[in-house]
Amino acid sequence: MDFAEQVKSSVDIVRTIEEYVKLKQQRGSARYLGLCPFHVEKTPSFNVDGAKQFYYCHGCHVGGDVFKFVMEIDNISFYEALKLLAERNGIPVPQRDISDPDAKLRAALLEMHSIAAETFHANLRSPAGQEARNYLESRGVTSTQMEEFVLGLSDPGGRQLAQKFGPSFSSEQLDQSGLVLKRQEGGGHFDRFRGRLMFPIHNESGKVIGFGGRALRSGDEPKYLNSAETPLYRKKHVLYNLHRAKEAVRKQDYTVLVEGYMDVIGVYSAGVHNVVACCGTALTDTQVRAMKRHSSRIVVNFDPDAAGAKAAEDKIQMLLDEAMQVKVLALDGGLDPDEYVKQFGAEQYRQKLEKAGAYFHWLADRARTKFDMRTVEGRLESFKFVSPAIARIPDRLERFAVANDVASYLGVEPRLVREQFRGGGQKKARAAAPTLAVPANERLLLNALLTSDRVREQVIPQLREIAAVGRFTTRGIFEALFALWDNSKAFRYGELEGRLKETDRHLLSQVVFADELMEETIALEQATACLEALRELDPKEEIADLRTQIQAAERSGDWDRAISLMQLLDERTKPKR
Ligand code: GTP
Ligand code: MN
Repeated sequence: MDFAEQVKSSVDIVRTIEEYVKLKQQRGSARYLGLCPFHVEKTPSFNVDGAKQFYYCHGCHVGGDVFKFVMEIDNISFYEALKLLAERNGIPVPQRDISDPDAKLRAALLEMHSIAAETFHANLRSPAGQEARNYLESRGVTSTQMEEFVLGLSDPGGRQLAQKFGPSFSSEQLDQSGLVLKRQEGGGHFDRFRGRLMFPIHNESGKVIGFGGRALRSGDEPKYLNSAETPLYRKKHVLYNLHRAKEAVRKQDYTVLVEGYMDVIGVYSAGVHNVVACCGTALTDTQVRAMKRHSSRIVVNFDPDAAGAKAAEDKIQMLLDEAMQVKVLALDGGLDPDEYVKQFGAEQYRQKLEKAGAYFHWLADRARTKFDMRTVEGRLESFKFVSPAIARIPDRLERFAVANDVASYLGVEPRLVREQFRGGGQKKARAAAPTLAVPANERLLLNALLTSDRVREQVIPQLREIAAVGRFTTRGIFEALFALWDNSKAFRYGELEGRLKETDRHLLSQVVFADELMEETIALEQATACLEALRELDPKEEIADLRTQIQAAERSGDWDRAISLMQLLDERTKPKR
């Protein structure tokens, strides 16, 4: 068994995917269902099969084994996925040279970030960190929280990291790390972060990939200096605190989204652990999907300033476009979440959170303050202010329900609402990929054949005598099954999959998920019935069918297929002796 097989056999795909996607077990089976992390959807079509150890999405037709999943979701190479899964599961990784230069660079950068986080943290705890600790304490951050969030302090002289890294990393690695910068003159490097309060930023697996550095003295510009884009840190993909928050997010089935590092620390310390920050920037679809993998419900708690309100609307629109259920928490007194918790306490913050209202009510409240609600015109204007957002709700019934609800909230006649929303949603829902159809006979036979060795032993030899198999949509799968059978009678699903072309692999996953698992006896009965049906195919009908298929193959330029079908046709039309 090679190393990859060893890892695969000791890693459970369900446990692994559950780290990223909220899954629900299907009653009494090893199958799980969840919202697909690879496309936008409201009803779950993402399947994970614990028995066969693979996943498949009926909506966007992606699928594969545990390695493929980790590669796609973390956007890493096969080697890195292998290493990651081995490490997470306590399997010792053989020391061998990494041939993938990108993986090698990322591994070095991860090491540098881990060294940097430790160094910054040690600085904060040292006597030199006194001033920074005082600052944090003055803002109500306790030493427990400093430990929990691994807060740190960067060397004011700007030499510490450059010195530490110097001997152990190549010049390219230093340049790519984003942690040190090349000196203009005289060679060597110096630290990017100097004398700043350091917030380590982790990826979803909990590895440090970047930093936010806050100025400690007022007047130091900029207030926050964040890591530059590196092969590890892609601003558009990261949410601060997601690795700590995700468990609580699943448990409570919603995320609290705030703006800044300090807000996360304040809210988290108030006992609300399901909190993440977007760190000031515009939200991206990658970030939204990362949240949605754990829950599709969200409470947005942004800073209250006026500039914030417009920015908040844009961010919320992004959330709505990804089919999230959005509530908005607007705190009074012009306070951001961190300040609110400090001033009014954890308990009151949590109460506010529970009472957060739906997004469209928040928007309507904003409309109320903009227009004169005592007049009919003002109320109409206020409704018009909200309607573009309502018009984007893709689902027609939901659109109507929200429109009616908001109209009555704003005191507008329902008739006007219907006029405004008679048409379809303005934003088209993304078109689903066309489904590949597998005829019932083939589906039933394949599922039967996957049931047990005994079924295969009885059915495969008979099936081989039937020429119609060569015309199956899924003939590639059958051929692979036969070849595998000749090779060894010990069947392994992974091996079958390994022999298939991409399209056939999709077909197979579809087949497997189309039917319930069968008992052996039922599988045998079913297979026998299919065999009979195939044998009874009227020869004339079969020949006509062959001719149509040959024409189709010729039209699409698939000459190999056309020729093999013609051979079949020859056999069929040869006079029987
Ligand atoms: P405090 O001001 O210490 O309470 O921190 P805060 O987290 O509340 O900051 P603020 O509300 O001003 O900004 C929210 C987030 O936006 C911060 O946590 C940063 O991620 C980001 N941010 C703020 N100012 C800057 C800046 O000058 N540059 C960059 N790159 N990001 C910033
Ligand atoms: Mn703040």
